[in-house]
Amino acid sequence: MYLGIDLGTSGVKAMLIDADQTVIGSASSQQVATTRPHPGWSEQDPAEWIRATEEAIAGLSTAHPAALAAVRGIGLSGHMHGATLIDADDKVLRPCIMWNDTRSHREAASLDADPRFRAITGNIVFPGFTAPKLAWVKANEPDIFAKVRWVLLPKDYLRLWLTGEHLSEMSDSAGTSWLDTGARAWSAELLAATGLEERQMPGLVEGTEPAGTLRSDLSARWGLGEGIVVAGGAGDNAASACGMGTVREGTAFVSFGTSGVLFAANASYLPNPASAVHAFCHALPNTWHQMGVILSATDALNWHSRVTGASAADLTTELGEALKEPSSVTFLPYLSGERTPHNDAAIRGAFLGLGHESGRAVLTQAVLEGVSFAIRDSLEALKSAGTRLSRVTAIGGGSRSRYWLKSIATALNLPVDLPADGDFGAAFGAARLGLIAATGANPTDILTAPATAETIEPEAALTAAYEDAYQRYRRLYPAIRAAY
Ligand code: XUL
Repeated sequence: MYLGIDLGTSGVKAMLIDADQTVIGSASSQQVATTRPHPGWSEQDPAEWIRATEEAIAGLSTAHPAALAAVRGIGLSGHMHGATLIDADDKVLRPCIMWNDTRSHREAASLDADPRFRAITGNIVFPGFTAPKLAWVKANEPDIFAKVRWVLLPKDYLRLWLTGEHLSEMSDSAGTSWLDTGARAWSAELLAATGLEERQMPGLVEGTEPAGTLRSDLSARWGLGEGIVVAGGAGDNAASACGMGTVREGTAFVSFGTSGVLFAANASYLPNPASAVHAFCHALPNTWHQMGVILSATDALNWHSRVTGASAADLTTELGEALKEPSSVTFLPYLSGERTPHNDAAIRGAFLGLGHESGRAVLTQAVLEGVSFAIRDSLEALKSAGTRLSRVTAIGGGSRSRYWLKSIATALNLPVDLPADGDFGAAFGAARLGLIAATGANPTDILTAPATAETIEPEAALTAAYEDAYQRYRRLYPAIRAAY
């Protein structure tokens, strides 16, 4: 048996799989609280992650005691970019500054203006990334900064608790702005530019490699054996890709949850920071990935639902299943700014082209199209970074709407595959990494794709109208930007 632990922003999910990768069961913790002491801040108490992990494992222990006792390997996944600051006694110095905390936007802009960051990391220094957070702590909490012995990513703090080791892996570390992403090594130069030294960073392994052994007291408490291997694991997006089998060149998924991600696996390192594409290491050796990230996907529909007082399901049902030609109304989904392709934290969304005839269904249609076009922007950004996709797999809550799937397929002009039923998320990917690290199995033998239940083809009769509407959508961002 193998155990995957996914430290999500809202809670921990633990999953057990057997040697054939059949899911035996999973359990989730209660909500982990996020505190927002000031506008733009987002913090969590790492002690809560331990509490949540204990809870999720207790859930498995109740439902599947024999399977839990047979665990041989553990894999970790977690939300990326968070700054967990640890002193010389392994004590947490302040709450973790999370991936969606934007307080360090000025520090991010100033680090990004130093050309070495884009050159070495292959990425824009986004406000959510780790390095600008440390620059903020250095400027605003110098006493804490002086005590920082280790900077750990959230799932690697869980590893410290699970194993006593200060270790990380490439996929999550690529989101810090301190990794030389091509060389898969810390950059002493970039660390120095933030007032840090390499000895303050965890040692690095690949996500598929062993990175610690479960502490005996935890093994005993959970009824597990001795010597259980903990794999390097992955940041949550790379872990989901491991769950989906998105590891070979040319494979890709579009995830539309709260935010939206277009994720492509690459056999080589293909950065293009100018297009705001994220170019990160993947969780397996000699593999990288690119990612376009849009900040409001299903969140845009949820906003529309709040404003209209109709549920998201009712709104999409009202549209019917047959894809319509885009109307004169365009929606820009920048409700909390945008990462790809604009890297613009200040921009906000808009409806344009409204007429007397623009009723609720027309606005719903425009919201879904706006998100589809934002994902098309990410496809174009990936193209400009050297990646051409011939199909994508859709995952996440938004993929329950047939209309939205047809809209995405037509906006991308690509077939969209729907996986057969099952849970192929980050916890499953983490469990697969635990299996690989414990058995030495060949990663590509294990990280396979689920069967495709159905393929949604682009609507040939509407691709030209969609292309026109997309070109109009593209012209609107600079206009709105200039107006504010
Ligand atoms: C990726 C990102 C998010 C977090 C949250 O760059 O910021 O997907 O990993 O889970």
